[in-house]
Amino acid sequence: MFCDTHCHLFEEYYDNIDEIINLANNENVNRMIVSGCDNKTNIEVINLIKKDNIYGTLGIHPEDVENYESKDLKFIESNLKNPKVVAIGEIGLDYHYTKDDKDKQIELFEKQLFLAEKYNIPVVIHSREATEDTINVLKKYNVKGVIHSFSGSLETANIYIKMGFCLGVNGVITFKNCNMKDIIKEIDLNNIILETDSPYLTPVPFRGKQNDPSKIIEIAKFVAELKKVNINELAKITNSNIYRIFDI
Ligand code: NI
Repeated sequence: MFCDTHCHLFEEYYDNIDEIINLANNENVNRMIVSGCDNKTNIEVINLIKKDNIYGTLGIHPEDVENYESKDLKFIESNLKNPKVVAIGEIGLDYHYTKDDKDKQIELFEKQLFLAEKYNIPVVIHSREATEDTINVLKKYNVKGVIHSFSGSLETANIYIKMGFCLGVNGVITFKNCNMKDIIKEIDLNNIILETDSPYLTPVPFRGKQNDPSKIIEIAKFVAELKKVNINELAKITNSNIYRIFDI
């Protein structure tokens, strides 16, 4: 049985979320962690986690840095006692479009890391073209969790692992020109968890179609082959990694 550790099952992407969950269940993907990005999706997360085997994370994504309000952080904090809220995320730094707002991004990131430390809850990190700052900021807090959609060097991977993080591997690994394959080969499976990042990053052979949590199976098959383990063994190891991080 598999768990999709990172998906965005929100109304703006899917007409019928129950159907998407059933589809996943039929493929032996029996648990999903839905990741909020802003106040609107954080509210959706709180509703979704009323369903069986659906867990959630709450966070303000760096792309929302110009729009979020302080009450959005209060909403997150006030829901951390919900046992099905398993992390703060996705949070982090994204310098892909602009670095001009990096101070604001770091401020928002730190506010949420502060909460994670205060409530002793893991974090799900989004870091794009911001590795150095991400590591330096994370070092200031006593937190652990997942580096979602990890795409750095082997050296960076080892820094994160030493800091207590697992690396989230998704459909990008199946892409023909993905240079992560050699890096993932070098990393111990005990440091890897699987995620779809649905509706984004659809794995091969479904490129061009919308992604959904059932497709974690395609990622699992690919990683199993890359790591030369059978798929049941892969499920066993990645599930125990998930239990190490998340209280699910
Ligand atoms: Ni995501």
